[in-house]
Amino acid sequence: MSESQPNAAFTPRVFSGIQPSGNLHLGNYLGALKRFADSQTAGIQSIFCMVDMHAITVWQDPEALRRQTRELTAGFIASGVDPEQSILFNQSQVTEHAQLAWIFNCVARMGWMQRMTQWKDKAGKNQQNASLGLLAYPALMAADILVYHATHVPVGEDQKQHLELTRDIAIKFNNDFGVDFFPITEPVIEGTATRVMSLRDGTKKMSKSDPSDMSRINLTDDADAIAQKIRKAKTDPEPLPESVEGLEDRPEARNLVNIYAALADLSVEQVIAEHGGQQFGTFKPSLADLAVAKLEPISSEMKRLTADPAQIDTILRRGSERAREIAAPIMEKTYEIVGMVR
Ligand code: AMP
Ligand code: TRP
Repeated sequence: MSESQPNAAFTPRVFSGIQPSGNLHLGNYLGALKRFADSQTAGIQSIFCMVDMHAITVWQDPEALRRQTRELTAGFIASGVDPEQSILFNQSQVTEHAQLAWIFNCVARMGWMQRMTQWKDKAGKNQQNASLGLLAYPALMAADILVYHATHVPVGEDQKQHLELTRDIAIKFNNDFGVDFFPITEPVIEGTATRVMSLRDGTKKMSKSDPSDMSRINLTDDADAIAQKIRKAKTDPEPLPESVEGLEDRPEARNLVNIYAALADLSVEQVIAEHGGQQFGTFKPSLADLAVAKLEPISSEMKRLTADPAQIDTILRRGSERAREIAAPIMEKTYEIVGMVR
């Protein structure tokens, strides 16, 4: 708790980013987009970023990157993130991200970067051949957050290590220069209940990289595809349990109940109270109806929005201008602290 003390001087501000790497799915919606939309009502200023510069740490086809950046923006808006209330933009349009990332490249230590599990996973055995950007990735992420003096960062569990590194960078910068300039950011880690698992294997996360399209519900799937994927989802032969404890050791059943609860804004207890004892032959159609009712409007809104790329580009440009109003003075002050002649 002692670390939260320095933040007393900072206005609460939420920042989060998602890579425009394609194939938005139900996991992204329930684990990120829907939560972002819900958090807007709390009245805290929220900044959401399509991190296109993070995406190119591994090869991206330029046309696909552009399309996916617009599609992700449409996904945010279709999920209920209001581009007027929140700030919605793509990273490369606010050059302060790259500028602060360079300063942080000079604050962070090689050893910190090489310890990151995501670096080890993504670079694999062939580290010599990975891009330098992939190694430096967490310094850019720290810059994303700190260039807004963001205090709260909602992310999935897998990003926790990068947020700890963000704190380390802020602490070292503040110490090195004898200032109290960057806040010590609080991670807002998503609860396990919103970890959406694969429809083919309840022990694996639903993921865009799963080779089986039946393992995930894409936000672009139509009603038939959604219903079919739920009907064919893997389950065990038992009916749903009468109590929440009965879901333990039944990963597929638990996943479907969790999805139902998250989509309906109910607790798992409430879902079990209503559906406990049902066979999957009964529960799956209810879940399919619910999923179609909730997701179909999102997918059609995404279609409508992506049909007009110019409008999306206008939203991103406007968001970038607003983002820049916050980032530019913080960047200026950073240069001054570091000793750059301005
Ligand atoms: P990714 O698709 O891995 O780039 O993740 C983008 C965002 O969606 C991050 O905030 C993740 O934590 C979230 N996310 C991705 N997959 C899942 C999942 N299966 N369940 C819950 N959240 C997810
Ligand atoms: N690294 C995050 C991911 O892969 C994306 C990201 C980039 C991010 N910058 C961020 C998330 C800043 C939160 C805050 O999911």
